[in-house]
Amino acid sequence: MSETNKTAEPCVMVIFGATGDLTKRKLFPALYNLAKENFLPENFAIIGVGRQELETKDFWSKISAELIEFIGKNIDKNLLKWFEERTFYTGGDFDDDKKLFKDLKALLADVCQNLEIPENFFYYLATPPQLFANVTEKICKNGLGKQTDGNWRRFIYEKPFGRDLESAKTLNAQLLKILDENQIYRIDHYLGKETVQNILVFRFGNSIFEPIWNRNYVDHVQITVAEQLGVETRGGYYDTAGALRDMIPNHIFQLVTLTAMEPPVSFEPDAVRNEQSKILHAIQPFTPEDVLQKAVRGQYGEGEIDKKKVPAYRSEPNVAPDSNTETYAALKLSIDNWRWANVPFYVRTGKHLPAKHTEIVIQFKKAPFMLFRNTQIERLTTNRIVIHIQPDEGITLHFGAKIPGPIVDMGAVDMDFNYLDHFGETASTGYERLLFDCMIGDATLFQRADMVEASWRIVSPILDVWKAIPARDFPNYESGTWGPKEADLLLEQDNRKWKQTVD
Ligand code: BG6
Repeated sequence: MSETNKTAEPCVMVIFGATGDLTKRKLFPALYNLAKENFLPENFAIIGVGRQELETKDFWSKISAELIEFIGKNIDKNLLKWFEERTFYTGGDFDDDKKLFKDLKALLADVCQNLEIPENFFYYLATPPQLFANVTEKICKNGLGKQTDGNWRRFIYEKPFGRDLESAKTLNAQLLKILDENQIYRIDHYLGKETVQNILVFRFGNSIFEPIWNRNYVDHVQITVAEQLGVETRGGYYDTAGALRDMIPNHIFQLVTLTAMEPPVSFEPDAVRNEQSKILHAIQPFTPEDVLQKAVRGQYGEGEIDKKKVPAYRSEPNVAPDSNTETYAALKLSIDNWRWANVPFYVRTGKHLPAKHTEIVIQFKKAPFMLFRNTQIERLTTNRIVIHIQPDEGITLHFGAKIPGPIVDMGAVDMDFNYLDHFGETASTGYERLLFDCMIGDATLFQRADMVEASWRIVSPILDVWKAIPARDFPNYESGTWGPKEADLLLEQDNRKWKQTVD
């Protein structure tokens, strides 16, 4: 993991899917933020590749207008000019390796010569996943994928990486036939979030938390990734994916592994990823019986969010009117190792919930006996650490304190650390760090083939059971509520409760 402030190596970034949403909302704004902080090298260029036949100047008009809208009126005009001189476009059919990839090869040669850039290329595949193998193969067939003469070639793949264990294995095998693992960067944008990276610093950069971060002190862990938005315009993709596939083997498992992993011996990519991988392998796979007892699914019906009426999932555009796709999933995970034996990790995610809120709760055991007998039972709150990922970023420690007065009585209080108060606001899309790391060849925050497969190994049995036994009660939660009642029962059967995330 990079620790020093340095400039990325001279290179060309080639974006496949350059006219899409991701390029507009994340990639160009992230590049702008990086350039603003002097992280981009002078010898740098971006080539957009898309299906549309566009002139470079038309592509730039579109991108610059979007960038101005995104950054706002304080945008740095000189920087905009800097990008204009370095942004190019070529378009055509991704299936036709005769034209598009030949054009790309010629353009890369020109750009490298004119801007004096060594032939270091990184390809960002912001395309539908069905195209990953095909596009990679065509890049390589045209001699643009092989690392030669000290020049590197790297490939970033957006999620989803496969849709189950089999397809992930096939995709890994296809890519590894033509690329080395060290050329492959499987992105998970949760690892670009500051607070997610801070989990490692919090745990391993301080000496007071790690000694209690285990089954002797921790009762259980809760991870909530709640979204207020519904599927919006993504019904076509989402209806074939569902909440489990969309969020759990990727984003939520990143949070689980960083919370549960052993300290790595260093911050070298493989040292960190080996520890994450061990956790994924220690999570007990679900038997069909476990699926019935430890996995909950839900789908939103109509309801109200922020006092506005919102439609049921089945009425969203491009969603089947009798769809059985889940928009909510909760699991009880068991991590089979010395540190976490008998400490359940409850995870949940859903759309059309009351608020956007992501947090990790480390719930500690109760004090061994209660000395303060005046305290009412509901005030006997146990200690917990809450890591707030979004929208607020920070950490809260929850503990008991004496209520002022003549008798000894205890109340629950919070000690809060908030990123914004301490470090101020930094412009971030969450992609800056990930793009920069790819440019300096640091794969710590990217998923390795074995990690992706281990994640699918855990969730594939759940997907199989859910497919074999379609839900009969969908929709089973109203939009604007905290999900189906079975999700509450999942904890209540263990005498626990979800922590209320927002009031
Ligand atoms: C994406 C999912 O990977 O992550 C979306 O496909 C989801 O369905 C999004 O809304 C959530 O990301 P964030 O950063 O807004 O929490």
